[in-house]
Amino acid sequence: MIDNTPFILALPKGRVYEDFIPCLQETRFALKDDPNKSRKMLLDTKCPEVKVLVIRGWDVPTYITSGAAHLGIVGKDILMEKEEEEFVELSDLKLGQCRLSLAGTENILTGSSKLKIATKYPKSATKFMNSIGIQAEIIYLNGAQEIAPILGLSDAIIDLVDTGKTLEENGLKEIETISEISTRLIANKASLKTKSDLINEIKEALTK
Ligand code: PRP
Repeated sequence: MIDNTPFILALPKGRVYEDFIPCLQETRFALKDDPNKSRKMLLDTKCPEVKVLVIRGWDVPTYITSGAAHLGIVGKDILMEKEEEEFVELSDLKLGQCRLSLAGTENILTGSSKLKIATKYPKSATKFMNSIGIQAEIIYLNGAQEIAPILGLSDAIIDLVDTGKTLEENGLKEIETISEISTRLIANKASLKTKSDLINEIKEALTK
């Protein structure tokens, strides 16, 4: 039976997307339309069998796990919050490099047995705080965590740091690096067998 369903590569909006598009445009899977001028979420590429799905980074693992998309581009920070058996991590694209760090107004680790941590990374935050023997009360925020300590919502934050500008401008210091972060290529497990030719070709084209 001929499989006519398109092969779907899921890309996150935002910083990863901006970094990634120039790499994609150098391959035979380049986007045909200018993504900045379109509201379409499923975009055509120069390869008729391959389409690009543009969604939020946090949703990329969901599409890949279900098989609704075959390959995905996503930050390691997001993957660390998901169960590893849900997808296969194929390669580190070395884009979007930054770090997941603990930050606060002062070195709050000294003498603390319990801290309120504002973060959108509850799993990584709990794991890290357990590893240093401090109980974490997680305050889940979906962004702009940097303002939480100044306003007394939390004692500290666990968030991504790139240049450090957001921390500095909100009166915070980086206290400890938890993990180095970069953009990863992930695949649906079944697609590794059924779509291996395209997966290998796209992987090679992107990691050259
Ligand atoms: C990320 C991150 C920090 C900021 C760090 O936010 O959550 O807030 O970048 O970058 P810097 O160290 O260079 O200042 P982003 O702008 O991606 O938006 P978000 O809050 O929606 O995650």
